[in-house]
Amino acid sequence: MPKAGFHDKPFDEATLTKLQLFELYAREWLPVFLSTAVRPEVHLFDFFAGPGTDSSGVSGSPLRLLKQVRDYSNLAQKSGVSVHVHLFDADPAKIAALDRNIDARGLRLPTVHLEVKALPFEQALQRSWPTISNSRAAKLLLMDQFGIDHVTPEVFVQLASAPTCDFLFFVSSATYYRFQNHPAIKQKISRPDDHYQTHVAVLDFYRGLLPATQRFYLSPFSLKKGSNIYGVVFGSAHPRGMDKFLQVAWAQDEINGEADFDINRENIRADQMLLPIPGFRPSKVSAFEADLEQRLRDGLLTNEAEVVQVCFDHGVRRQHAEPVLKRLKAEGVIDLGFRVPDIKKLDSPRPIRRTR
Ligand SMILES: C[S@@+](CC[C@H](N)C(=O)[O-])C[C@H]1O[C@@H](n2cnc3c(N)ncnc32)[C@H](O)[C@@H]1O
Repeated sequence: MPKAGFHDKPFDEATLTKLQLFELYAREWLPVFLSTAVRPEVHLFDFFAGPGTDSSGVSGSPLRLLKQVRDYSNLAQKSGVSVHVHLFDADPAKIAALDRNIDARGLRLPTVHLEVKALPFEQALQRSWPTISNSRAAKLLLMDQFGIDHVTPEVFVQLASAPTCDFLFFVSSATYYRFQNHPAIKQKISRPDDHYQTHVAVLDFYRGLLPATQRFYLSPFSLKKGSNIYGVVFGSAHPRGMDKFLQVAWAQDEINGEADFDINRENIRADQMLLPIPGFRPSKVSAFEADLEQRLRDGLLTNEAEVVQVCFDHGVRRQHAEPVLKRLKAEGVIDLGFRVPDIKKLDSPRPIRRTR
């Protein structure tokens, strides 16, 4: 996605998919925190907001966030939760355009505390930190940067330490490829054309920045457009946050088609290699299934919580585990009393026994 004139032309399909992912996650996230005043404040941050639309008037992330907030305003009024939306961008002209667009769309909502300000990310983050680190407030952060320059390892660690703070940040194609040359990642990538290795290495890189004892859920959700791979990294301290994100990402046809892309792996399972389809490449789901099956056959997974973790690591839904669990149960490899691992049972997970 080129930088120059990003908002002076129509959003491309890849950008629209990403924006849809942001919007749909906000739509799932908001009612969780607006229905009850367990946390009296809700704050949405868009740190790279842009002017609000593309050249054809299609809404960008800030207008999409405000639209979702508007749709749930009754909920907030009932519960008494106070709603705050913070929109920042380094470019003052874009922020001025955003202000105009908010008014033009009738999105300056009387019940919402709205901050629209021209600030570079580093300053905006510093200024917002008292709120982001406030445990009485629920936060959702979008960082739709052009590259990965702004969400540095230090920023990532800082954000992951914030209470009740889910975040999404964009990782461009260029960054994905740059990642492949990162010393910590390069050694894990034996085949640079294998997108799947990069996906897993990106996850490992970020997870490796956090203390091993920190409970934090992370998924780089890789998408592909043409020959370019790009992604959205999602982070949450709560497994239900991750679960919702993956449900959203796989639910939409438009996103789903890209989500299960050909990951350019040739050596996942011997039987797949024998398929007589010219140019056959296994998809992300088949890579997940092969990994899950191997781990179950090796007796490495002993309960449903561990299966959920494998789903999260691969960026697939819990439901994706069902066919493998069912087949291995039918083959007498494992025994278990559930079909789909349940996100509500992570604290007392149901067991999986290996039967042979
Ligand atoms: C990919 S665009 C964001 C698009 C936006 N989410 C939308 O839906 O229209 C990246 C934005 O980051 C802004 N930007 C560039 N450097 C920045 C910085 N250091 N801090 C904050 N914003 C920055 C640009 O002005 C641009 O609007």
